[in-house]
This record gives sequence, structure tokens and C-alpha cells, in this order.
Amino acid sequence: MINTGIRAVESYVPERVVTNDELSNIVDTNDEWITSRTGIHRRHLSTGENTSQFCINIGKKLLDKTGVKPEDIDLIIVATITPDYATPSVACQVQKALGCGKAFAFDISAACSGFVYSLSIADKFISSGLYKRVLVFGAETLSKITDWTDRNTCVLFGDGGGGALLEPVEKGGIMAEDLHARGDDISLTGRHHVVENMVCKDVEKGFPYLIMDGRAIFNFATKVVPDSVNKILEKSGLGFEDIKYIIPHQANSRIIDIVARKLKVDISKFYINVDEYGNTSAASIPIALSEMSSKALLEKGDKIIITGFGAGLTWGSMLIEW
Ligand code: ACO
Repeated sequence: MINTGIRAVESYVPERVVTNDELSNIVDTNDEWITSRTGIHRRHLSTGENTSQFCINIGKKLLDKTGVKPEDIDLIIVATITPDYATPSVACQVQKALGCGKAFAFDISAACSGFVYSLSIADKFISSGLYKRVLVFGAETLSKITDWTDRNTCVLFGDGGGGALLEPVEKGGIMAEDLHARGDDISLTGRHHVVENMVCKDVEKGFPYLIMDGRAIFNFATKVVPDSVNKILEKSGLGFEDIKYIIPHQANSRIIDIVARKLKVDISKFYINVDEYGNTSAASIPIALSEMSSKALLEKGDKIIITGFGAGLTWGSMLIEW
């Protein structure tokens, strides 16, 4: 059995920071409301860089850090709901820019669960023994599908990306996973493309932005995340005392508080940085991992649980031994 390990993690966020006060100039909101309901103080927004550029920057850092040559990469996976184009995929743009001539490359769409889903996919390719080095990214420019006149959503999201280089390891790495989808619930949708062509002209109007029933998503997340984390522990025969950190998708600090309470785990076990970035969808978990790695919070042998939830609806968790 070949295990899949994370050799390095990196991230990239645009420099431009937008505070809650700055948002209150464009919609009827205020710092107190946003902070108390979400824990978000700031978000980083792109001033023009697209999702592919975030991934290219992250990919360069990963190759520099590890000394792995571009031609040794076998596969590139990008989790995103905000690609630059419908085609080519962001992954193909990254393949070209980094010079990973041997790699095959594709994007996946699983919203905020995208990074967890992508790690799972990469793990299957590596554990098959057919492929050795995989770059996995979670990256979003959510600002381009955000309705900047809708205070219900525009205060929540930010732009950025993170990524990891995965390789076979003898011990540890990805140890357990729990993945789900529930396609009958559309309480969160984004950029609706309607069919309009030479034989179909009486079309409903599409909508270019994210639309969300915040309450429904809140209730969904606070139910499925504790269930999924518990399943991971059941599958792996571990208890919370064995887990160093839980890294949840960073959507809202109140959701994380409730999850911690339901799991009866001290909140200090959860890594939280939503205050700085807002909700960056597929990027939030790899940004958190990269921050934790650069703060030396993760040591070889540490066991962590990552857990994502989002549009689709999708959700999933994974146990990783660092
Ligand atoms: N500023 C001020 N007031 C606001 C704002 C704002 N930015 N947004 C909404 N309000 C108002 C509402 O209009 C409402 O006013 P009303 O009572 O006069 O109608 C009031 O605040 C309360 O609104 P609620 O929606 O009930 O507020 P709630 O406490 O539920 O918090 C929130 C809203 C923060 C969106 C919460 O529901 C939430 O976090 N949900 C989860 C969202 C999430 O995580 N989404 C991302 C999923 S990940 C992905 O896949 C992209």
C-alpha cells in the first residue's frame, strides 16, 4: 500500500486589503455587524490577477522550496469555482506556465470542499503506484462572481489560493477520508449559465453572481461538519487527544464555535484565520495549512483533520499525518 504525503504547502493572496469599514462605503453595513456575525475583519481582493496567476505563483514557490523539477510533476489538479476560462482549465494554464510538460492537468468544482476533494483524487492516483508527484491547488477570485450591491454576500468573501506538493511516503500522510454531496440543495448557487442558441431563444435570464440563503448554509454546516469529523475519528480509531489541530473551511467563526461546542473540543484545537481573509472557498484550507507551516505549528508525525463544506452542497473531511 502506497501512502500519500504532503511534502510542502504554500499560499498566495493578493496584496490589496479591504476592511469592513471600506465595505460600509459601498453597501449598508458596518464593522460591528460583520465582525460579530462572521468574525471577518478584512479580506484580500484581486486588483486584476486571475485564479491561474495565484496558482502559478504558488506552484513556483512549491518547486523552489522542494527543489522538484517541473518535468518531474505527473499531475496538476486545481479546485476552483472561479476559473479564468471555461476552457482551458486553470490546471492547464499552470502546466504551461510552470513548464510541467509531462503532467496531465484538470480542474475540479466542489466549491469550499474543493481542496479536500482534490487531495482525495490525488491520493488515489499516487496510491495506485502509477504517478508520483502531484500539485494540488485550491484557488479563487470570488470577487468576480460577488454581487457588490448585495450586503448579504459581499461582506463574506475574499480572493486567494493555496497549494501542496504531494508524493508517496512510507508512513503517515493521508490516513482517512469522508466525502459527501447533496445535489438537491441549492441554498448556495453561483453564476448561472443558461442555454441560449439558434434553436433555443426564449431563455430564462442567467445570473452572474453568488446567491446564498445564509441561514440554511449555517444550519447545514453546523450539522454536517461535526458528523463528518466524528466519522473520521471512528474510521481511524482515534480520539481528539490524538489530533493536534482541526483545520475547518474558514467561512465564519460562529460556525467554527458551534462545531467545536458540538464536538466538545476546545476551540484552541481549531486553526482560525477567517478574520484576515474572509471566505476564500477552495483556497481557505490550503491558505491555513501554509500559514501554519510557516509558523512552524506542524511537526512531522502530527495528526490533523481538515474539513470543508460548501456549495453543491458538498462536504468532506480528511485525517492527515504530517
Ligand atoms: N450588514 C448589515 N446587516 C446585514 C448584512 C450586512 N452585511 N447582511 C445581512 N444583514 C441584515 C439582514 O438583512 C437581516 O436584516 P432584517 O432582519 O432587517 O431582514 C439581518 O441582518 C439578519 O440577517 P440574517 O441573515 O438573519 O443574519 P445571520 O445571523 O443569519 O447571519 C450570515 C448571516 C453571516 C450570512 C450567516 O447566516 C452565515 O454565516 N451563514 C453561512 C454563510 C456561509 O458560510 N456561506 C459560505 C458557504 S461556503 C461556499 O461554498 C462559497
